[in-house]
Amino acid sequence: MKSIFFTFLFLLIIGKITHAQETENPYIVPNDPQVVKNIEDWQDLKFGIFMHWGTYSQWGVVESWSICPEDEGWTQRKGPFSSDYTTYKKAYEDLQKTFNPINFNPDKWAVAAKDAGFKYMVLTFKHHDGFCMFDSKYTDYKITSTKTPFHTNPKSNVGKVATEAFRKEGFKIGTYFSKPDWHCDSYWWPYFPPKDRNVNYDPKRYPERWQKYKDFTYNQIEEILSNYGKVDILWLDGGWVRPKQSIDPNIDWQKTIPYDQDIDMANIAAMGRRHQPGLIVVDRSVSGEFENYRTPEQQIPDVPLSYPWETCMTMASSWSYVPGDIYKPAGTIIHYLVDIVAKGGNYLLNIGPSPLGDYDSAAYTRMKEIGAWMKVNGDAIYGTRPIAPYKENNICFTQNKDKRVNAIYLAAKDEANLPPTLVIKGIKPAKDASIQLLGTKNKLKWKTVDGETVITIPATLQKAPPCLYAWCFVISEIE
Ligand code: GLC
Repeated sequence: MKSIFFTFLFLLIIGKITHAQETENPYIVPNDPQVVKNIEDWQDLKFGIFMHWGTYSQWGVVESWSICPEDEGWTQRKGPFSSDYTTYKKAYEDLQKTFNPINFNPDKWAVAAKDAGFKYMVLTFKHHDGFCMFDSKYTDYKITSTKTPFHTNPKSNVGKVATEAFRKEGFKIGTYFSKPDWHCDSYWWPYFPPKDRNVNYDPKRYPERWQKYKDFTYNQIEEILSNYGKVDILWLDGGWVRPKQSIDPNIDWQKTIPYDQDIDMANIAAMGRRHQPGLIVVDRSVSGEFENYRTPEQQIPDVPLSYPWETCMTMASSWSYVPGDIYKPAGTIIHYLVDIVAKGGNYLLNIGPSPLGDYDSAAYTRMKEIGAWMKVNGDAIYGTRPIAPYKENNICFTQNKDKRVNAIYLAAKDEANLPPTLVIKGIKPAKDASIQLLGTKNKLKWKTVDGETVITIPATLQKAPPCLYAWCFVISEIE
């Protein structure tokens, strides 16, 4: 009775949370059937690799934010130039003159990422600082500028070479692009000092300058979507660049946006889809027609969400490369992945390449461990959809399109052996169902006891699990 009550309470809470999210900011299903189909296909991929890379990697500091004159924990300046804002910004922008990632070898990245089980990639083409990791003709603040030593390298157009390398390995391609540009004089107009992350003049008072900025943004996005092969996702960051009426006063960082910064997303999306039919547009945090999926950051929702979503998260602690950064253990990453997939999301996991152009060795080690797990359990991850009860203590559920159900047991840190029995409450196997552990051949014995499913794991198997961290029991058919 008690458990029925708690299940009821739980469902009521889930209902309330998802309902609240939907009524406040309803998810808008795109009109274009090709976009809808592409989102559905993207939801099969589950696991993407994110890369934040720019000149900032040379100092091992936060991406872009140290030039933002806001007093936030993550904007703090460090190092010899930090005491004076103007000197600091100049030194930061001068990083362009020393950026020379001579070890950049995206084939190596793509092979390692594929082996780890990643299926799509998102690369920072341009972050808030405005430095272009692609050959834009609208600015000289870019990797291919004669000011940047790397420009003579045959791989200097990083955006191009990296996306080609990943595409060749079968990856879908996402391009991260920051709507705000803290280098561009029609965003931070040098006439005024910048005050915060926002445009530093009122676009209503200076409509021509704002128009210039809109054109600049449109043109750069058009370059990316027409010169860089097939792009599947346009991942737009910097949600404060948004129409005033879209500001959600319940969200702290949005409350303080001083101006209307309408960048004309309808125009950008239409152009994007002329070049890239069915393009998925992710206008992050600006709920509406151009946020084709949502992107909780550094967090996993407590409950499944009723719309397409992706958790973006750092593999270490910073998005940017920081020497000696601590990387999450593979077991943690795998548990997060399983939890996210069971709740219907995708997992976009970030690695920040170093100033010389490679991943930290810890990232390669993690990828190997994740890959080993994926090779055994990928079938319970890719192409699956969530199924209630989603998660039961340390067991997560997913469902294959042919209706098989996977019960994925998340092992505790010191749990090296499988338990003697596994008890499942919320999923009822069909009478003739078979249950098998992924990575093994034999069918397991199971029975129903007081309405719960009890699976017996033979002693030999307990001691020889097919992989580390999480074990997946496949139920051939449910009631
Ligand atoms: C945060 C960071 C930003 C980063 C983004 C990735 O918003 O401030 O720099 O690009 O996360 O999701």
